[in-house]
Amino acid sequence: MRIAGIAGGAAWPDVQAVCELSKARPGLRIELDVFDFDLAAIELGVRRTLDALGDDARLHVNGTESTISKGNIGVRFFLQDITDQEGMTAHARNEAPRSHGYDLVEAIGIMEYFDDAGAMALIEGMSSLLSDRGGTGVIANMTAYHDYVQILGVIGWRLLRPRTIEELSVLTGAVPDATWTTELIRDSTPSGDTASYAFLTWKPPQAAE
Ligand SMILES: C[S@@+](CC[C@H](N)C(=O)[O-])C[C@H]1O[C@@H](n2cnc3c(N)ncnc32)[C@H](O)[C@@H]1O
Repeated sequence: MRIAGIAGGAAWPDVQAVCELSKARPGLRIELDVFDFDLAAIELGVRRTLDALGDDARLHVNGTESTISKGNIGVRFFLQDITDQEGMTAHARNEAPRSHGYDLVEAIGIMEYFDDAGAMALIEGMSSLLSDRGGTGVIANMTAYHDYVQILGVIGWRLLRPRTIEELSVLTGAVPDATWTTELIRDSTPSGDTASYAFLTWKPPQAAE
């Protein structure tokens, strides 16, 4: 099982998921590759992964790549710009036995930073990292049905792009022949119940049922 966390930061949710999966499926080899261009986030992620995997986890650092391994788990952090598609592809495919790409590629908390053209290029690039045997891509985006007052106003990230369902459906044109599903995550707020976050999942044709 190969998983890629695109702009994964310290990747704490990914690492926790890998630990849970490893408990549930002890015989399964699980490889998580995390890509981010923030060195501080990666250093934090490496420390937390070492803690999560326990005392006998091993750390190997090779230039901009840090690998933590224990038993059936391998976690690699890459200091990498995710818009550099050639670099991303090299990590996904250019090493035997890794020629088949990822089973799961996720990008959570990053699409809001890109305009439609950039977001679609990123989705297309993510899709090309998926395994030829089939795989699943996942992106998330804040919806426009929430005012995100703390983030968009107080912190000042005014360039972030919450999207409507219609705007999100435009992004699916990045991989038009895939099977796409959309899930809205609802939050309870003082002003009511809002669908604040949307998850979009796609399976390229060879993986569709
Ligand atoms: C909001 S955080 C999301 C982190 C993680 N996915 C999560 O959900 O916890 C956005 C991350 O995107 C990274 N990032 C933004 N642009 C990037 C780029 N062009 N290449 C690599 N990482 C990038 C930032 O360094 C940051 O760690």
